[in-house]
Amino acid sequence: MGGSVQRRLQVQDTQSPTAAAGRFAGKVALVTAAGGGIGGASALRFAREGARAVVAMDVSPAVERMAGLIESAGSMAICIKLDCSDERAVVSAFSDVLSRLGSIDVLVNGVGGGGGGRNTEFFESMPDTWRRIVDVTLLSTMLCTRQVVEGMRQRRYGKIVNIASSIALVPTIKMVEYASAKAGVLGFTRSLAMELAPFGVNVNAVSPGPIKTAATDALPPDVLARSVNAVPMGRIGVPEEIASAVAFLASDEASYVTGQNLAVNGGRALN
Ligand SMILES: NC(=O)c1ccc[n+]([C@@H]2O[C@H](COP(=O)([O-])OP(=O)(O)OC[C@H]3O[C@@H](n4cnc5c(N)ncnc54)[C@H](O)[C@@H]3O)[C@@H](O)[C@H]2O)c1
Repeated sequence: MGGSVQRRLQVQDTQSPTAAAGRFAGKVALVTAAGGGIGGASALRFAREGARAVVAMDVSPAVERMAGLIESAGSMAICIKLDCSDERAVVSAFSDVLSRLGSIDVLVNGVGGGGGGRNTEFFESMPDTWRRIVDVTLLSTMLCTRQVVEGMRQRRYGKIVNIASSIALVPTIKMVEYASAKAGVLGFTRSLAMELAPFGVNVNAVSPGPIKTAATDALPPDVLARSVNAVPMGRIGVPEEIASAVAFLASDEASYVTGQNLAVNGGRALN
């Protein structure tokens, strides 16, 4: 076999899933909403791709089951049950993590929602609901991010990935507060990216379309059907398809990508 052919094969091999297994070697990744579908798949992806430690945060005790999964995938696991919209709890949890692990290289803000199955039009909605949705979706993202930005600036390294939603891009009835809060997440992503770009810190968003998780399982069937029918690919996505996008943006492969929103939605925003 000629040298040039061998060289070409080696190049191809670096792009295979096995060769990609070490993208997060030595890194600490912290994922919120890690007890759920998208956050859980993202946390496991970091572990499978060599992260030194994966911190899983969630308000549900379900987050504890992540410890065994993360450890079996080869990373140290720290699982913390907390409400990511509670400032005091967030400050204390991040401070504990930082004193145990030294630094956080990757933050994925997965927490969002807070609608609790609400499915009404805006004229029927109440300010308490808006506050809850904005707190859980936007404030939680800002609070968690605030805990890591100083360290990332100092170390001139960091990756922040915010989970937004296709609903921030494609107007949808009965989702006004959620759309507003997720649009806020996109604005936060873009503006923070500008502030942190000079420090080599990347801030990006992923906007999922309908993805099969407990959140979509809880939707009224007609609402879910309307959402899936609007997807040009004609199917619901799976959490691993979001985790792939999250992992890319959190990796050094996306080192020149910042302030962007990667829509992973089967083509939803195209129509
Ligand atoms: N599934 C979808 O179709 C879809 C589409 C677009 C965007 N999203 C976004 O993806 C993210 C993850 O959602 P999912 O579909 O995996 O849902 P999920 O219900 O599977 O997981 C959400 C997790 O977040 C946790 N959580 C909720 N409020 C919290 C809080 N205040 N503090 C800490 N943890 C909290 C829940 O306990 C749950 O484990 C959310 O931001 C959601 O808005 C989901």
